Amino acid sequence: MQGFQLHEQASTVPITSYNIEEWQKGYRSLKQEHDYWIDEVEGEIPPELEGTLYRNGPGLLDVNGQRIQHPFDGDGMICAIAFKQGRAHFRNRFVRTEGYIAEQEAGKILHRGVFGTQKPGGWFANAFDMKIKNIANTQILYWGGKLLALWEAAEPHQLDPRSLETLGLEFFDGAIQPGESFAAHPWIDPSSQFDQGAPCLVNFSIQAGLSFTINIYELDTAGKVVRQQNHPVPGFAFIHDFAITPNYCVFFQNPVRFNPLPFLMGMRSAGECIQFQPDQPTRVIIIPRNTASRPKPIVLDTQSGFVFHHANAYEQAGEIVIDSICYENLPSVEPGADYRDTKFESLMPGQLWRFHLNLETKTVQRQLLEPRCCEFPFVHPAQAGRKHRFIYMGAAHTADGNAPLQAILKVDVESDQRQLWSAAPNGYVGEPVFVPRGTADESGLYTELQSDEDEGWLFTMVYDSKYDRTDVVILDAKDLEKGAIARLHLKHHVPYGLHGSFTPHYFES
Ligand code: CO
Repeated sequence: MQGFQLHEQASTVPITSYNIEEWQKGYRSLKQEHDYWIDEVEGEIPPELEGTLYRNGPGLLDVNGQRIQHPFDGDGMICAIAFKQGRAHFRNRFVRTEGYIAEQEAGKILHRGVFGTQKPGGWFANAFDMKIKNIANTQILYWGGKLLALWEAAEPHQLDPRSLETLGLEFFDGAIQPGESFAAHPWIDPSSQFDQGAPCLVNFSIQAGLSFTINIYELDTAGKVVRQQNHPVPGFAFIHDFAITPNYCVFFQNPVRFNPLPFLMGMRSAGECIQFQPDQPTRVIIIPRNTASRPKPIVLDTQSGFVFHHANAYEQAGEIVIDSICYENLPSVEPGADYRDTKFESLMPGQLWRFHLNLETKTVQRQLLEPRCCEFPFVHPAQAGRKHRFIYMGAAHTADGNAPLQAILKVDVESDQRQLWSAAPNGYVGEPVFVPRGTADESGLYTELQSDEDEGWLFTMVYDSKYDRTDVVILDAKDLEKGAIARLHLKHHVPYGLHGSFTPHYFES
């Protein structure tokens, strides 16, 4: 009888691909800074692979034992993995921001974080403290001969691409002022029509105040700002990412409300004062890039939802097509809640949607491309702003429900086929960075398709809870299901990260 009951129970309890305690172990600080050749490799590093993979993310989840309330508040730590002749070298360094240095010296949290970290001392110590620490923890990118660590609410930090030493704040020759910001999601237009077909970097910033402004910056390959425009945005603008096409920048203004009082009173962090508005539309703001024409934004409304990341956008017969990861809502950040206790199954998954923005009828249509829980979309760099066929994403192991990212999913939007590589049950993946096989141009950019769009490699960092260490995994983007080409075992774990990029420049020492 007993055995029968056990069997009955086993058959009705859904089998999960992950273990929450194991997943939580990936959220521990990595305080040490390492520097070594990776000598434990399963499989083979492609001998023709040459360049440096950079990745940014919160390296500290505590300051001297005082817990950071949310990983988005953790100090930025850069990993650099340099590849040459079948070998790989690992290095990690914290970005020496003013706040990181001060807090490490003091041995305690000195600054409020955007997502819930408060200074010790309760509301009194936090009231009217508007100073936010520049944590430089979201993206890292080599552009114009400079390695830049980005965080959306403040200035970029410039680092030495070899030693990862912090060199200081970057202002692009005065294009941004001290106290201004530069978002963490630049796009590289592989062939800018405003620059005689040369590549350019397009990024934005949100200037907050009594009202909001979107600033758009376009930089040439020397890192100089060549075009700049700004537009006021009515309402509260919480915009993390955007997309580009040859003619437009596209922003999704998520329907959220901000109640500043508890923040000003020191009772809640800024992130805890953001409230999702399910009855309000998402506003799509389309801004022409041709600054010579004194462009005016085009504003369209679509269903309520929340978007952190866009996969890509392109123009097609009077419309803009944009593929984005959408959530039905944004869960509130509750004061005192521990992010490590995330109840995955009670939250809505991020899913890949396609939006058709009709510029003539001023209407938006959307369709679900991929219902599986996914995040961190990536496309071939030469297809940025152009019609893409393949999207790579971090995804859940199982097709239904919400769960930690344990797999890499490749979606072929033309044939509607899928490929999946899973690291379950012990592996937890990050963003997949696609690197084309083939040669880059003189600036180190992959601006043209030299062969099939999926001819290349995918890199992702996978926390392996069984061995409590992180692996750098290399997949063949053409065939994910044949398994990893190479699995590089690091000597330690690396906390779950955010975004990364690859440059064909080999920066090892
Ligand atoms: Co992001």
